Amino acid sequence: MAAVPTPVPALRAALLDWYDAHGRILAWRAAPGAAAPDPYRVWLSEVMLQQTTTPHATPYFQAFTTRWPTVKDLAAADDGEVMAAWAGLGYYARARNLLACARAVARDHGGAFPDTEAGLLALPGVGAYTAAAVAAIAFGRPANVVDGNVERVMARLFAVETPLPAAKPELRRLAATLVADDRPGDWAQALMDLGATVCRPGGPLCEACPLTAWCAAFASGHPGRWPLKTAKADRPHRTGTAWVLRDEQGRVALARRPDRGLLGSMLGLPTSDWTAGPAEAETGPPVAAHWRDAGAIEHVFTHFSLTLAVRVAEGAGDFLWTDPDEALASLPTVFRKALERGLA
Ligand code: ADE
Repeated sequence: MAAVPTPVPALRAALLDWYDAHGRILAWRAAPGAAAPDPYRVWLSEVMLQQTTTPHATPYFQAFTTRWPTVKDLAAADDGEVMAAWAGLGYYARARNLLACARAVARDHGGAFPDTEAGLLALPGVGAYTAAAVAAIAFGRPANVVDGNVERVMARLFAVETPLPAAKPELRRLAATLVADDRPGDWAQALMDLGATVCRPGGPLCEACPLTAWCAAFASGHPGRWPLKTAKADRPHRTGTAWVLRDEQGRVALARRPDRGLLGSMLGLPTSDWTAGPAEAETGPPVAAHWRDAGAIEHVFTHFSLTLAVRVAEGAGDFLWTDPDEALASLPTVFRKALERGLA
């Protein structure tokens, strides 16, 4: 690609000024003008934010940092407690990686996160995005931090005609042309905030944007045309059954899922396999009982959507018998929905 004819310093100054005035106040950010934020808090927030939005992540972030205020505390935590605290954030492999990383930092680095992108990248479960984000935000390194928000901003700023996801390398190169040694953490977060609040996925609010003077999409008069996207194949759909079994005391039967695979090692309701085929092919109930239909719930995972029929019965057996309120508070969302339906 040809050199980008952008007066970079002026563009950077405009966005950093905007960030000083309009940046979001988020639990993991240092106050404006304060010392660099704690790397543990930056890392934890970035891992959570790869899963979910800032409003959804905030209570989890507060609960984690209250319970485990330092990376050494998290490293020493009980696996089951961390998995339970993660429930509701989705994608539980990430919670296992979180613990593996905390333990590596505690064991191999004396509890201090490495302060370079390469050092961070060598930690278990830390990918290119997280390494760059922590290097920039916690350690002031001029790393190129590119998430979905930043990709969208670049696609519009430079009116990139290649559709996503093929455009990703090009968008990353364009983002790199704007990185500089001055305020790297603020720069990264300013781009993210701009993408989340102004240069939004649904449609840009150009009247509130500090970068219109440099924006090719704005100049075109149709800024919402970008980013171009290749049509997505529909998510596949699966079906299955969740079994809500209650004992004489009203407790509910839970079972630990296998270590590998989706929701690996999490507690859940007993379920059939989740298959793309017809419901008749399903595995039967976990115990013989008088099973009754309680309707169905829908849940969307990253790679498929799921309809779970919910069936309820009273009975006994070799399960982890749990108080329903406790189960509702700690189960992954898909099981919480099924349990709510089974208790209704
Ligand atoms: N999304 C991911 N990381 C973020 C951060 N540090 N600030 C705002 N949005 C984010």
